[in-house]
Amino acid sequence: MAVLLTGGAGYIGSHTALTLLEQGEDIVVADNLCNSSEESLRRVQEITGKKLRFYQADVASRSDMEELFSREPIESVIHFAGLKAVGESVEQPLRYYRVNLDCTLTLLECMAGHGVKNLVFSSSATVYGDGRPPFREGDPTPGCTNPYGWTKLMIEQIITDAAAADSGLSAVLLRYFNPVGAHPSGRIGEDPRGIPNNLMPYIAQVASGRREKLTVYGDDYPTPDGSCIRDYLHVCDLAEGHGRALAYARAHSGVEIINLGRGQGVSVLEMVEAWGRANGPIPYEIGPRRSGDIPVSCANVDKARELLGWEARRDVEDMCRDSWNWQRNNPLGYEK
Ligand code: NAD
Ligand code: WQD
Repeated sequence: MAVLLTGGAGYIGSHTALTLLEQGEDIVVADNLCNSSEESLRRVQEITGKKLRFYQADVASRSDMEELFSREPIESVIHFAGLKAVGESVEQPLRYYRVNLDCTLTLLECMAGHGVKNLVFSSSATVYGDGRPPFREGDPTPGCTNPYGWTKLMIEQIITDAAAADSGLSAVLLRYFNPVGAHPSGRIGEDPRGIPNNLMPYIAQVASGRREKLTVYGDDYPTPDGSCIRDYLHVCDLAEGHGRALAYARAHSGVEIINLGRGQGVSVLEMVEAWGRANGPIPYEIGPRRSGDIPVSCANVDKARELLGWEARRDVEDMCRDSWNWQRNNPLGYEK
């Protein structure tokens, strides 16, 4: 029996594929490569010495997915596929709603048609909007500040409704905080297209000389050093969290929402300092605030500990060291 990873060639999916292969799972990946490269999966197989099966498929396409489900003995699904750039979602809201919702609907229909009952879904801390941190899973989610976040809230609702109508369906909705870092081999990592939107890949590209300096977006927030605080999480810890969530989904039915973070806030300036300690200093300047940023985002992680027996093991310096190891070994990402 196999686990299907939709979007499994991407950043979090490739790290999760590696972890699950090491745990002895049989892995099938469906990805249309719109934001990734098949090279990530070639390297996952090289690192683990194990094979997976790859389908270049559009998860929103019923015919692509029917073909996959009829050929493969899928028993569980981890659903990563979708578009994830917050700013782009504001510029292209219909594309984001179309892709993210269609992928999920097609997947749920195929799962129902083929009797597949276990699902883990990549949700996001963005669903908490500008609520009061540390965020707990039961906190209200009155709305998001961008279409990307709305797609995550809508998909959480769709899966919850599907599970209400099918008592056999088991779903774990994982709300990730800020995944960063890379596998310590330096062979797989985050490969953003164009100018990175996110802090860690931007810092890494400054360190490699590809960007001149980091702009810290605001130092006048109501935080101890004035820069924004986030709950950064090593992508290998996150991948291990998916292994635990899969085991939980297999053993239960119904829907659980679970935060995955470290439960520790780190400011932008603290992250710049940690990078300096791990890898040497980088140039930066203070700039204006970025629109849409909230001052503090941080998880309460009690539920992950209690239900999954999971907690993050890697610290901020591990995240910086592994990001740099990936960046300096692959200055142009997966491109040769
Ligand atoms: P990613 O872009 O690296 O991975 C997503 C993958 O989905 C890519 O490989 C892309 O090619 C694929 N994809 C997109 N549309 C597809 C389609 N129609 N059919 C098949 N494949 C398709 O992103 P990631 O950082 O690995 O994120 C994985 C998931 O986690 C996403 O759902 C994202 O929204 C969610 N998430 C990410 C973060 C983060 O900071 N990286 C935080 C919270 C949640
Ligand atoms: C982190 C901090 C920036 C870049 C985003 C999505 C969220 C989730 C994770 C998907 C902020 C500051 C950044 C830079 C900076 N993704 N920053 N200079 O915004 O917390 O979360 O990724 O679900 O939905 O919104 O992450 O890495 O963009 O920013 O000062 O060049 O770094 O202002 O305080 P964010 P980020």
